[in-house]
Amino acid sequence: MKIQLSSPDLLDARTDCLVVGVRENAQQPQSTRKIDKATKGLIGSLMRSGDIDGRPGSALMVPSPAGIEAKRLLLVGVGDKPDVDDFANATRAAARQLCSSRSVSAVVALTEIAVSGADPRARARMLSQAIEEAGYRFNQLKSAKGKEAARRECTVKRVTLLGGSTKNDASMRKGVQEARAIAHGMSLAKDLGNLPGNICTPSYLANQAKKLGKSHKLKVNVLDEAKMKALGMGALLSVSRGSREPARLIIMEHQGGSRSDPPVVLVGKGLTFDAGGISLKPAGAMDEMKYDMCGGASVFGAMVAAAELNLKLNVIGIVPSSENLPDGAANKPGDIVTSMAGKTIEILNTDAEGRLILCDALTYAERYKPAAVIDIATLTGACVVALGHPATGLFTPDDDFADELIACGETARDRAWRMPIWDEYQKQLDSPFADMANIGGRTAGAVTAACFLARFTKNMTWAHLDIAGTAWHSGANKGATGRPVPMLVRFLINRAQA
Ligand code: BES
Ligand code: MN
Ligand code: ZN
Repeated sequence: MKIQLSSPDLLDARTDCLVVGVRENAQQPQSTRKIDKATKGLIGSLMRSGDIDGRPGSALMVPSPAGIEAKRLLLVGVGDKPDVDDFANATRAAARQLCSSRSVSAVVALTEIAVSGADPRARARMLSQAIEEAGYRFNQLKSAKGKEAARRECTVKRVTLLGGSTKNDASMRKGVQEARAIAHGMSLAKDLGNLPGNICTPSYLANQAKKLGKSHKLKVNVLDEAKMKALGMGALLSVSRGSREPARLIIMEHQGGSRSDPPVVLVGKGLTFDAGGISLKPAGAMDEMKYDMCGGASVFGAMVAAAELNLKLNVIGIVPSSENLPDGAANKPGDIVTSMAGKTIEILNTDAEGRLILCDALTYAERYKPAAVIDIATLTGACVVALGHPATGLFTPDDDFADELIACGETARDRAWRMPIWDEYQKQLDSPFADMANIGGRTAGAVTAACFLARFTKNMTWAHLDIAGTAWHSGANKGATGRPVPMLVRFLINRAQA
C-alpha cells in the first residue's frame, strides 16, 4: 500500500473513494461542506434522515455520488470535539469500510479534523496506521485461488491523505513514514505469530532473520545448540531437549549509532509451540500456544521498523527460540538445571519454560553492556487474569524506565500497566534443593515470573513486558495483534532522538 500526502481538488479528484468527516452538531469540516454543496446537499439530507449521525466510529459508504468525480463517498463520524480516542475510533471505522469496499485508490480528508491531544503528525500517523492495519490479511495458507481468494483481499493500493498547511507538511510526512514502518513491523509480527508450529519452528525463525538481514541490512547471527552448550545455556537447552526441533538463539543488530554507543537490547520469547512439556497443558485452545513466540515476533517487527526508519541508535534483538513438548528426554518436575549465569534452577513445572529460555538470553545480553534491556514474552496466564486484554504487564524496578515505557505505550496507543516486582515476592521462588524454583506458587503468578527474570538482570536497566493478554485475539477474530511493536518502536524513535 502506498500512502502519500497531497492536496488535490476534492470535487474533481478521480478516486475510487473520497473520505470526509461528519460532525454531530457542530459546523461540518471544510471539505465536508464543499462536498455537500457540490452534491446538492446530499450529506445534510443523509444526516437528517439518520443514515449517518456523526458519532465517532459510525460510517456510511455512499456509492456513485452525483456532483463529484469520486466513485464513492465515505462519510465518517468524527464527533463534535474529538479527543484521541474518538479520532482512533473514526480512523478505524474509516479504514474498515474502505478496505471492505472494492476501492483501489482513496483520498482521505480526515487529516483536517482538529483533535485535542493529537497534532497533525500524530493524526497522519494514526490514519496511515489504521489504513495499513485494516489491509492486513493472513491468507497464505488458504489454497483457494481466483475469485473467492480475491474477495478476501483488501484492494486498496493508493491512499492520498489531504496534506495540511505547508507548515505542517514535513511533520505530517514524518507521521506517515513512522506509521509505515510500524505497520510493516506489525504485519511481520502478525505473520510470524499466525504461522502454525509445524511451519514456524526455531529454524524457520532463524532463516527469516537471515532473510531480514539481507533485505534490511541487519547483522544477523544464529547460535545453534552446540554453541549454546559451549556458553553454558543449560536452562534454555533443557527446554529444547524434549523436542525434535533444535533450539536457536537469534541475534539481530541494527547499527544506527556510533560504534561505541551502548545499544538498546530487545529480548523476545520465541517459543514456537508450548504444549507444556511433561506438565502437559489441557487440550482446550492449545492451538493458541503457537502464539508463544509473539514476543520474539515483536522483536523481529521492531528491528525491521528501526531499520526502515534508519534510526540513529544501536539496537540489538535477541530471540531465544525453542519448542516445549513432552518426550522421553524432556525436563521432568524436580529436575535441576544450571543456567548460563551459574545459578541452579529446580524445575517444578515444565510449563514455566519461558523464563528458562529467557534467563539465558538475558545473561547473554549482558555482554553488550546495554543502555537498556526490554524483554517481551507471552509469559503467564496469570497476567491475563490480572489485566485482561487491553494492557500489557510492565515490570521493572526502575521508576524512570517504567514512566518512559508507559508514556511510549500511551503515545503509540499500545498501552502497558505497571505491576509490582518487590523483593517481598522473591521468597515464593525459594527451593530447598537449588538456588531457585521456576515457579512461585498459586498467587501473583505474573509477578513471580518477573521476579525470576529480575534475578538475571541485576546489572542492567531492565524491563519485562508480559504480553500474554495482548499478543493475539482468540475466538472468531483469532489472530496475532502485532502488539507491542507500536510501543517498542515509539521507544526506539524517542531514544534515537534523545
Ligand atoms: N506460554 C505460557 C503462558 C500463557 C498461557 C500465555 C496462556 C497465554 C495464555 C507459559 O509458558 C506458561 O505456560 N505459563 C504457566 C506458568 C505456570 C506453570 C507457573 C501458566 O501461566 O500457566
Ligand atoms: Mn508454558
Ligand atoms: Zn510458554
